[in-house]
Amino acid sequence: MTVLLLGGTGKTATRVATHLKDANIPFLLASRRGPDAAPHGYAAVKFDWADESTWTTSFENNNIETIYMMQPNVAQPWVPMIKFIDLAKSKGAKRFVLCAGTSAALGKDGMGRVWQHYLDTGVEYCVLRPSWFMENLTEPGLVYTISKMNKIFTACQDGRIPFISADDIAEVAFHALTDEKSHNCDHRILGPEILTYDDIATKLSKAIGRKIEHVKLDDEGRFQNLVQAGLSEYFARFMTDLELLAANDFEAGSNDAVKKITGHPPKNFDTFAEENKVAWSP
Ligand SMILES: NC(=O)c1ccc[n+]([C@@H]2O[C@H](COP(=O)([O-])OP(=O)(O)OC[C@H]3O[C@@H](n4cnc5c(N)ncnc54)[C@H](OP(=O)(O)O)[C@@H]3O)[C@@H](O)[C@H]2O)c1
Repeated sequence: MTVLLLGGTGKTATRVATHLKDANIPFLLASRRGPDAAPHGYAAVKFDWADESTWTTSFENNNIETIYMMQPNVAQPWVPMIKFIDLAKSKGAKRFVLCAGTSAALGKDGMGRVWQHYLDTGVEYCVLRPSWFMENLTEPGLVYTISKMNKIFTACQDGRIPFISADDIAEVAFHALTDEKSHNCDHRILGPEILTYDDIATKLSKAIGRKIEHVKLDDEGRFQNLVQAGLSEYFARFMTDLELLAANDFEAGSNDAVKKITGHPPKNFDTFAEENKVAWSP
C-alpha cells in the first residue's frame, strides 16, 4: 500500500512524509514541481490540479489506497477535487484525508463539498480543520517584513487565534492516514494558546531580541498591502477576508484533539519561535 501525498512540497505533506518514512510505509509526493522539489531519496511525481493528464501518473506502478489532499488556489476547487476522488476510487483508493480549515462546513461550498462527497461515496475519510499555522511566520512574505522591517501587517486587529504547528497537524494527519480504523470524522486541530498578533509580536521580540511591531490595517489598507507585496487581487481579497473574520474571533477556540490523537500536547509558540529564530535575522 502506498500513500499519495498531494501538496507534496508543502508544509504539512513533507512532514507527513517523514512520519511515513520512519514507519516504513511507502509514499509518493505529488505536486506541480514533482521530483524536482522532492527531498533526496523521496519518490515524487508531477501532479497539477489544472492538468488532468497528470492525475493518473501516480497510479501507474503504485498500489495507492490512501490519499492526503488539500485544495488548490482556484475558483471552485471542489470541482476538480471531486472528479479526482472518483478517479482515485476507480483506481483502488479507499481512504482520503483532507487538510481543510476552520471554515469547512459539511455540504457547504468550499471544502465542505469535498467532505460531503466522501460521505456520499462511502469512502473512509478524515477532514482536518486546523487553525492558522505557526509556520506562516517562516514563509517568505512574513520573513521579509519581520526581518527587514521589524513589522507584521494584518487586518486581524485583536482577534484571537489558537496558532498550531504544522508538526502537530502532520502528526494528526499521519494517524488519520495510517490508523487501522479510519477516523471517519473531522478534527479541529488547535494550538495550546489563543494568541493575538500583538501577543505574537511580543513573543517574537523576546525570542529574537528585537522589537517587532504588529501593524493593524483596515480592510482596504490590508488588501492594498498584500497586492503591493505581489499577491493577485483574488488572493489578496481572500487573505484579507480571512483576517477580517479572525478579527471577530472566528478562529478562537480550544480543545485537546492533538493530545488525544498523538499522545502529546501541541507545540507552544515560544518553542516554535526559539526553533526558528534564525529565519528572522535582519
Ligand atoms: N496556512 C494556514 O494558516 C492554514 C490554516 C488552515 C488551513 N490551511 C490549509 O491547509 C492546507 C495545507 O497546506 P500546506 O501548508 O501543507 O501547503 P502549502 O505549504 O501551502 O503548499 C501547497 C502545496 O500545494 C501544491 N500545489 C499548489 N498548487 C497546485 C496545483 N495547481 N496542483 C498541484 N499541486 C499544487 C504546492 O506545490 P507546487 O507548488 O510544487 O505545486 C505545495 O506542495 C491548505 O489547503 C490550506 O488552505 C492553511
